[in-house]
Amino acid sequence: MSFTNFLLFASLTVYTGAARPPVPPRLLPAVSPRAPPGTQNVHPRVVPDAPNAAAAAPGRTVTIEVPVAAHTPPSQAVIDARAAGVQSPSVLNIPWDTRCSAFIPFTNVGTGSGKWPDESGPRVYLDVDGVDVYRTPAGVIVDTGSTGFAIGKDTWISTFHKSWSDVDTAPANRAWKYLSSSDLLYTGYWVTVNITFKDLDWKPVIRAEVPVLVYDSKVTCTAANYPTDNGVCVGGGTAVPGNSLVGAYMGVGYGRRGDGMMECTPDVNPLFNVRGWWTVVAAGSTHIPTARCNYRNGNIPTYPSFEYIHVQHISRPMGMANDGGGILGYIVTKTGIIWGLTGSNTAPFLFHRLEQFSTLPMDWAMPPVCLAINTNTCRAGQLLPDTGVTTAYVSSPDIPAGNPAPAPPNGALSSITVDMPDGGHGMGRVVYGYVSGGVAGSVLPPRYEVRRTGSRVYMNVGSHFFNRFETAVDAEMGYYGINDLR
Ligand SMILES: *[C@@H]1O[C@H](CO)[C@@H](O)[C@H](O)[C@H]1NC(C)=O
Repeated sequence: MSFTNFLLFASLTVYTGAARPPVPPRLLPAVSPRAPPGTQNVHPRVVPDAPNAAAAAPGRTVTIEVPVAAHTPPSQAVIDARAAGVQSPSVLNIPWDTRCSAFIPFTNVGTGSGKWPDESGPRVYLDVDGVDVYRTPAGVIVDTGSTGFAIGKDTWISTFHKSWSDVDTAPANRAWKYLSSSDLLYTGYWVTVNITFKDLDWKPVIRAEVPVLVYDSKVTCTAANYPTDNGVCVGGGTAVPGNSLVGAYMGVGYGRRGDGMMECTPDVNPLFNVRGWWTVVAAGSTHIPTARCNYRNGNIPTYPSFEYIHVQHISRPMGMANDGGGILGYIVTKTGIIWGLTGSNTAPFLFHRLEQFSTLPMDWAMPPVCLAINTNTCRAGQLLPDTGVTTAYVSSPDIPAGNPAPAPPNGALSSITVDMPDGGHGMGRVVYGYVSGGVAGSVLPPRYEVRRTGSRVYMNVGSHFFNRFETAVDAEMGYYGINDLR
């Protein structure tokens, strides 16, 4: 949510807080990875009253949670050796088509079924420690323009039925998030929770375990802590009027630290910290998956038998060295987010490596892009495909002078050309010519904000971008992918 204006953010963060009836109050505990068939806990929606009997019962399909291993970072030497240039999906080196992948559907659609939700951010169903989040329209916005889940103190208490005294007694967990473009500083505490993403029937899909920022202060702050980033607003800031401690807003993006959101580290990104994955076990099968989902750099998962392999519908050579179970990352499509990259779901993509923002694991920079203003030669810069805003934000030294800078359509600014990842536009090109901006289903945004800058070259293309492109990120190795649907 770069450059997000305050009003937009404020309106997005307010929801009704009503729980959606009828849903089970809590999830059952996760299964043990070694629990024998017949003693599995199952999701209460499947067999609410007899979970222990369900797994072995013929004629029933059961859904169980399989643990997902934490990712093991690759070495710096491996990162440094990544190939330059536009790459086919083979660069991801996916050893086989793992099943550790899941679809989290958006609850809202655009002009019709299967269309990108043009007018607002895409929303998903989820729960926090077993308590469902609900509002009208349904679900929580997933924002690729910020990182981490921020929850207002009032919402924390009233919606999630949490005690504040459990939160603010841990000064070591003091936390903040500064949204540099919207001049908003949130301060509060990190609290580790389970966030379970749901499908449209409110069945669990994946579970992330991450610190969330529970904030008890939200101020407008023009000069905050960057680059010292100590959570203190220079000059104290101005309290945001209204119910500023009501809200919940989820950022799943990467590369935001380069835009001043210094506390947006990868360890608070829900989609980079998945710890459970629900899978269906065929009716009557006694072969329950007992291995973990794992990643390419992790430990080799244990497969007890070929029958187990059969149940999993995977094919892989046994005993292959360095063979994790999948690729930690996700794909944004028009209708939902695919968590977990596989050979099949990455096949239509082209990839390019991401620079490291820091040596923290998974701390990548924004994707590279080459931006041409009018007929100028394009300049290398950074791209932000931001699901959280519909407006596009463009910065370049080539923006014609003016105060304020000219907003398209304007005689002095007639087009912006986005070449991905560089002037060769091997991954895609969009020409923003302002002819039909904002119409539903169009890649063009409804409005633009442009800034003439000294050196910064940047474009937040806004969420309408997803009407034409799917984006992918390989969180472990730092590749971003583009699938041009045209
Ligand atoms: C998250 O859920 C897992 C599995 O149920 C549990 O072991 C863990 O303690 C939970 N974490 C938190 C912070 O509640």
